[in-house]
Amino acid sequence: MLVRRCAVLFVEPREDLDVDWAALFAGQGAIGATIQWVALAPHLGDEIIIDAAELAALGGVSLTLWQERAACESQFGTKPVARLLELGLLLSDAPEGAPLRERDEVLRSQHWRPLSAALHMYSRWSDMRVDKGMQFPSFEELVDNYGTPPAPTIDRRDDGRSIALPQPERSCLDDTLFQRYTGRNFDPSAALPLAAASRLLQRAFGSQGEKEMAPDAFVLKKLSPSAGGLHPTEVYVLAQRVEGIAPGLYHYQPTRHALEPLAEMAPAETEELALRMVADQDWFQPAPMLVILVSRVERNFWKYRNHAKAYRALLLDAGHLSQTFYLLATEAGMPAFVTAAVNEIDIERALGLDPLKDMVVAVCGCGPASGAQNTIELRYEP
Ligand SMILES: Cc1cc2nc3c(=O)[nH]c(=O)nc-3n(C[C@H](O)[C@H](O)[C@H](O)COP(=O)(O)O)c2cc1C
Repeated sequence: MLVRRCAVLFVEPREDLDVDWAALFAGQGAIGATIQWVALAPHLGDEIIIDAAELAALGGVSLTLWQERAACESQFGTKPVARLLELGLLLSDAPEGAPLRERDEVLRSQHWRPLSAALHMYSRWSDMRVDKGMQFPSFEELVDNYGTPPAPTIDRRDDGRSIALPQPERSCLDDTLFQRYTGRNFDPSAALPLAAASRLLQRAFGSQGEKEMAPDAFVLKKLSPSAGGLHPTEVYVLAQRVEGIAPGLYHYQPTRHALEPLAEMAPAETEELALRMVADQDWFQPAPMLVILVSRVERNFWKYRNHAKAYRALLLDAGHLSQTFYLLATEAGMPAFVTAAVNEIDIERALGLDPLKDMVVAVCGCGPASGAQNTIELRYEP
């Protein structure tokens, strides 16, 4: 049997502080520290505690070249090698090793930058809810706990030498810019007219033209910028109350400007999924249309292979799309929202996505406002 190490691995000396009862009763310091090696391997996604012998083996086995298991065992011991193979930190060419080896091969095939892969895979939430630790502290609570925040602006010159700029003229874009706000009081009974939903999807996420940059290498023109012109962000729609569209999950196809049905749902099911997606933020749940932004990493990493900036570019791409979505909703007389506090793992399950290939980044939504002010909103006041 041949073995090699998984492609990407970081090992953290994790410190846990605890009450040291023995020391406390002996009249010494009450806090004890335990340090353990925690292996972070993005193809697995779970944190794994390893011991010093296993750490030594991981540090000595090639991630590229396959070697005989027996040789590896004679160097690092039978027990560490067996456990690492079982965990998937070492991989084998044996048939029983196929499931873990295939996860490693998916990671290799996507051209992730190792640090980006670890950051992505270990910052996802599953089933995060208010009663499980998701917190929404008010500004008052934050100030009580942390003191006042750093000032909203800084000055870089203290000698008064700054150049006063003329006030901008009003323009027609101003009407939309000044009306935009994050809605947190959506009308739970209002439906989104199909024409409004269709315009939002087409202008925010649809293709406005296609160009062949080299043989069989196509890019889309969209109304937001995108790193390398690649537009790797896929858009999924959770329709709760969109006129003429059955409640459920859809993929938005940007060149055909069409919704591809993925799962039809009862209204109670869309409500449950919407709430789950946004980690219990019940002020977003009633929006009639929610939009999930998912980066198809191989499209961006095709050009930006193992690239230090690629992950950042994916997040920026999604941010641009969400602002365009906000402005289109505002133009249509509706508030919108975006949130990164999302249960990525639950969304991946609902959409059938592999997180090594498809990166859930954010959830947006929009719909008519109820007129109530049950949850805080920040509106521009002239
Ligand atoms: C990346 C990002 C993440 C956000 N996440 C949340 C969120 O989890 N919950 C929420 O209520 N608002 C969220 N917001 C909305 C901000 O709170 C809001 O933009 C900010 O308070 C300013 O208000 P405005 O958008 O009305 O101008 C998010 C905004 C951005 C850009």
